[in-house]
Amino acid sequence: MAARSEDPVYKTDALIAEDIDAYLEQHQHKSMLRFITCGSVDDGKSTLIGRLLYDSKMIFEDQLAALEADSKRVGTQGQNIDFALLVDGLAAEREQGITIDVAYRFFSTEKRKFIVADTPGHEQYTRNMVTGASTADLAVILIDARKGVLVQTRRHSYLAHLIGIRNIVLAVNKMDLVDYSRERFDEIVADYRAFAESIGIEGFVPIPISGLAGDNIATKSQTTPWYEGPTLIDHLETVEVDLADTREKPFRMAVQWVNRPNLDFRGFSGQIAAGTVRPGDQVRVLPSGKVSRIERIVTFSGDLDKAVAGQSVTLTFSDEIDCSRGDVIAAAEDPPQAADQFEATLVWMAEEALVPGRSYWLKLGTRTVSATVQPPKYQVNVNSMDRLAAKTLDLNAIGVAEIHTDRDMVFEPYKADGEAAPNTALGGFILIDKMSNGTVAAGMLNFALRRSQNVHRQALAIDKPTRSALKNQTPKVLWFTGLSGAGKSTVANLVEQRLVRMNRHTFLLDGDNIRHGLNKDLGFEESDRIENIRRVGEVAKLMADAGLIVLTAFISPFRAERDMVRAMLDEGEFVEVFVDTPLEVAEERDVKGLYKKAREGKLKNFTGIDSPYEPPEDPDIRIDTTELSPEEAADMIVAKLIP
Ligand code: ADX
Repeated sequence: MAARSEDPVYKTDALIAEDIDAYLEQHQHKSMLRFITCGSVDDGKSTLIGRLLYDSKMIFEDQLAALEADSKRVGTQGQNIDFALLVDGLAAEREQGITIDVAYRFFSTEKRKFIVADTPGHEQYTRNMVTGASTADLAVILIDARKGVLVQTRRHSYLAHLIGIRNIVLAVNKMDLVDYSRERFDEIVADYRAFAESIGIEGFVPIPISGLAGDNIATKSQTTPWYEGPTLIDHLETVEVDLADTREKPFRMAVQWVNRPNLDFRGFSGQIAAGTVRPGDQVRVLPSGKVSRIERIVTFSGDLDKAVAGQSVTLTFSDEIDCSRGDVIAAAEDPPQAADQFEATLVWMAEEALVPGRSYWLKLGTRTVSATVQPPKYQVNVNSMDRLAAKTLDLNAIGVAEIHTDRDMVFEPYKADGEAAPNTALGGFILIDKMSNGTVAAGMLNFALRRSQNVHRQALAIDKPTRSALKNQTPKVLWFTGLSGAGKSTVANLVEQRLVRMNRHTFLLDGDNIRHGLNKDLGFEESDRIENIRRVGEVAKLMADAGLIVLTAFISPFRAERDMVRAMLDEGEFVEVFVDTPLEVAEERDVKGLYKKAREGKLKNFTGIDSPYEPPEDPDIRIDTTELSPEEAADMIVAKLIP
């Protein structure tokens, strides 16, 4: 697999990891709650978070002084400090170098320590919310009492529920602006309840508050005598967020790295995703299935006799079995499944829409594989919860689609039947664009498709080396790419004739011909062209396995798919030949009269006119057809191929 830089989600996590560690050090003895606040732009989220920090006395003295000064400057009156200033100021610092816009803040009370993920409220910031929510135990859904339940409220609630957050607080804010009206509060709660039930949220805790005035945040407010529930801080301090059910599950840990400081020590480091482990436990390494026993559980502060979900440890085995980064160590008796086809729910987070059939990196746990997404089965309308037909997924869209990976993945369904806590570690994943390295989607595996589960690869006695040795040649795939009319077929034809004269065994796969047979069901839309190249790639691979020198002549306009074929073949087998003919020249020749038709609008999606061509950045061979005749080009290719 090609090297790539880390994707933004993990950059963010890396940046905050140090802070979190330092913070946890300080408050070792207390239990912890991670939560997320979700609100629309003017719901008063910054003010609320500022208030929480202030009331829990976690603001450093000097920051507080600066804040009071700032508040005076912007003219906030009376004793109401403008808490929004504090949070926004911190955010500005944090945002440096952070691609995904989630600010994590830390505070603590007598009873508990807290990490709150603050995400911007705009609709287009779904990805921030997904990032923040992925580690949260609780979500505070903020509502402006004057506005009631908004589109954003539904959207955030749906995402929180989808991601598996089990505790939801409905903070009805700005109660001071509706005269602390009980009727208004009840009305909003009833509204929200109807919606929550429709998407399967089992319960939530509604609290009437004012972030600005401090009502029902840390102390019960005189202004809402009719309210009998807890204050916000009371609730955050006491809500149960026990990992007990995760600890009870069978043991699972994805290997983050193999720790091998010297020849005498080999340990496997990672964070325990589920269950409990003790020295002597029998474990199975997946996907290999090899079995061993735990010898030691090593940590910085010494060996442990037990470790549980959430802890980061290094495990050693009593046998020298293979285990590497990306593998999963699991309870030997109860291992997770492996599969290469899944149904998944996707939250699309990129400006560029999903391209069905294109190959993306899929990162699940510590493993990264190549994956393609099929056309979505449906998209969810987050307002009505209707399922809509969809050909693709755009920014912020949520949909369900099949995913195929290029090898088996060890996984667990994100939400398993009858289990409360989601399997984030082995069921949640992200998709990464192979060209830009940007995170494009977050996903949750629903279940594996049985289709190929019972189809196993058959070992064959006669293999590729045998077949190619018999033909006395090294298999190759000469992949010609270029515009229509560039001269791909002409040059490929001449190359094949020369090779045959040299007693080589060849086969030429030509675009126009294949489109009359194997691919006659495909047109020229992006997704069809991708499928065209995928199939040709598979056929070329079979022919290379047969020991042949394969020549292909397809426009193959997209870099991603050419790279995909390269990755399918053995190292050095794929030879990219760029038949470089400028558009003007190809159009001038117009052998088939298609450019004329395209210019007249009689032919849609024509490459170079209204459909893109992405030239190779670093082709193995480049042919400038304005300088070389087809014969000279063929001679040059053969000379490079068979020196
Ligand atoms: S590819 O883009 O999917 O790789 P392919 O090489 O199979 O294309 O087919 C290209 C051939 O189909 C062209 O040489 C041309 O003769 C014909 N053709 C018909 N419609 C189009 C179109 N819209 N764009 C490009 N080629 C087209």
